[in-house]
Amino acid sequence: MDTGNDPQSSGGEVPSTPIAQAPAGAGPAAPGPPAAAAPPARAVTASAAKPVGAVVESTPDPPVNKMRRRIVWASIVGFLTTCFLMFLRFFLPRSILEPSSKFSVGFPSDYALGVDTKWQQQYRIWVDKTSDRIFVIYARCTHLGCTPDWKASENKFKCPCHGSGYDSEGINFEGPAPRPMDRASVELDAEGQIVVDVGKLHSWPKGGTNQFNDKDAYIPL
Ligand code: FES
Repeated sequence: MDTGNDPQSSGGEVPSTPIAQAPAGAGPAAPGPPAAAAPPARAVTASAAKPVGAVVESTPDPPVNKMRRRIVWASIVGFLTTCFLMFLRFFLPRSILEPSSKFSVGFPSDYALGVDTKWQQQYRIWVDKTSDRIFVIYARCTHLGCTPDWKASENKFKCPCHGSGYDSEGINFEGPAPRPMDRASVELDAEGQIVVDVGKLHSWPKGGTNQFNDKDAYIPL
């Protein structure tokens, strides 16, 4: 039966297959291994077609962040400078600059009889004037060091901390204060002004010597 797939039967042309010719005198050709398949033909691309020695364009480097470099260097320099200054500071003497303990508070005639509190805030003193002398009370409670208040209406000093009371000359009479308040050294300068030195205090310890009559504890009037 003719299926139509047989070229011979269909009457079509049979493709000719080359037949190896055996050399004369040789026997029939032995069947050899099948020929290796030929590699597929490569497509020729544009790059492969570049001629040798052509200039190749490279991608440009990213721009350098100069600001970031400056910040890093500034940080390093600042750190090293600080370390160097601390190193130098190590060799400098450490001292506390305190205000002078001596100061002038004016003439004796500037004060009326009684307690004057105008220097309390600045120098922590009261200038006290009596009929025969002028002296300076250091405004520090002898209990634990608070600053008492002058109560003019009661004619006494009253400590706000624990209630110690002192009379108008700083002599304790109530509360836990163990002794009168101290008095600063005083003297008159060449102009006749009162010079106070709170660096040298006169005290009257309980059961001890009264230093309130020392030569530089008051100015006689
Ligand atoms: S500190 Fe003044 S009474 Fe205690």
